[in-house]
Amino acid sequence: MKKLISPLDLTTQEIDELLALADRIIEDPQAFAHKCDGKILATLFFEPSTRTRLSFESAMLSLGGKVLGFSSANSSSAAKGESVADTVRTVECYADIIAMRHPKEGAATVAASKVDCPLINAGDGGHQHPTQTLTDLLTIHRLKGHLDNLTVGLCGDLKFGRTVHSLIRAMMRYENIKFVLVSPKELQVPDYIRDDLVRSGYEFEEVERLEDAIGKMDILYMTRVQRERFFNEEDYIRLRDSYILDNEKMKLAKEDMIVMHPLPRVNEISVEVDDDPRAAYFRQAKFGRFVRMALILKMLEVE
Ligand code: NCD
Repeated sequence: MKKLISPLDLTTQEIDELLALADRIIEDPQAFAHKCDGKILATLFFEPSTRTRLSFESAMLSLGGKVLGFSSANSSSAAKGESVADTVRTVECYADIIAMRHPKEGAATVAASKVDCPLINAGDGGHQHPTQTLTDLLTIHRLKGHLDNLTVGLCGDLKFGRTVHSLIRAMMRYENIKFVLVSPKELQVPDYIRDDLVRSGYEFEEVERLEDAIGKMDILYMTRVQRERFFNEEDYIRLRDSYILDNEKMKLAKEDMIVMHPLPRVNEISVEVDDDPRAAYFRQAKFGRFVRMALILKMLEVE
C-alpha cells in the first residue's frame, strides 16, 4: 500500500493486520524502537493540528526515525503561491514517507498522484481522515473487544466532519452495525455518505435530539461543529451549541457505552463527563500514536 487517502483504500484484512500490529506495539514498544532507524517522515500541515501531527511525529520518533515538516501553510512556500503538487515533489526529495493535511477536499489525491513515496492523507477539508478512523477502530476494538454487532451514534457536525465520513465508510464493512445519526437538519451527513448507506441497505436513522437516541448506543461519537468550514459566522454561532453532553444525558446511556471524540472539543462535551469511566476520548488520542506506528511500519514495508 503506497497511498492512504480514504479508509476504503485498506481492505478489512489490512485493517485487521494494522490493529493487530498496534496491539503488539502497545505490549512491547521497545521491540519496535529501531525499526525505522535512518528513515524520515515529513509532516506537511497546511491546516492546524495538535493530535494528528504530533502523534505522527511521536510515532516516527518512537520507531527510531526522524521527522521534518511544517505546521502551517504560512511557514511553507504555499505562502509564496507554490502549488501542493510542487511542494510534495520537493519534499519527496528529503523524506521517505509523507503525511499531509490540507483544507481543500481532494488535495491529498492530487498530491498522491505526484509522488512515488508513500503518502498519507491526514485530513483533506471536510472530506476524509483515514488515520483518525484507524485510531477510532483501534479504540473500539480494544475497549469493546469487537468491531461488529454495535449501535454507533454519531453526533454533531455530520456534514463537515471528515472523521465522521471516514468512520461511517469504514464501519459499514462490519457485520450488524446500526448507525444513529444525531444532528441538526443543516448539519446532516452529505448525500454521498447517505447514498452509500442507502445503496448498501444499511440500517440507520437520523434524529435531532440526542436524548431520544443515546439509550440504545454502544458507542457515542461526539464531534465539534467545524467552524472553519462555515460560510458565515452567524450560522456557526447559531449551531455551535446544538449538543452538549453532560452528566444528566449520560444517565440515559448504557452502563457500557463508550464516549469517543476525535478532539479538539469546544463545548460539546462538558468537562464533568471526563471523570465518567465511559469517557474514552483521551485514551483514544493515545491509541492514535500506536496505530500510526503500525501504519508507518506497513507503508515503509518494514513489517
Ligand atoms: C479532527 C480533524 O482534524 O478532522 N481532529 C483530529 O484529527 N483529531 C476533528 C476536528 O478537528 O474537529
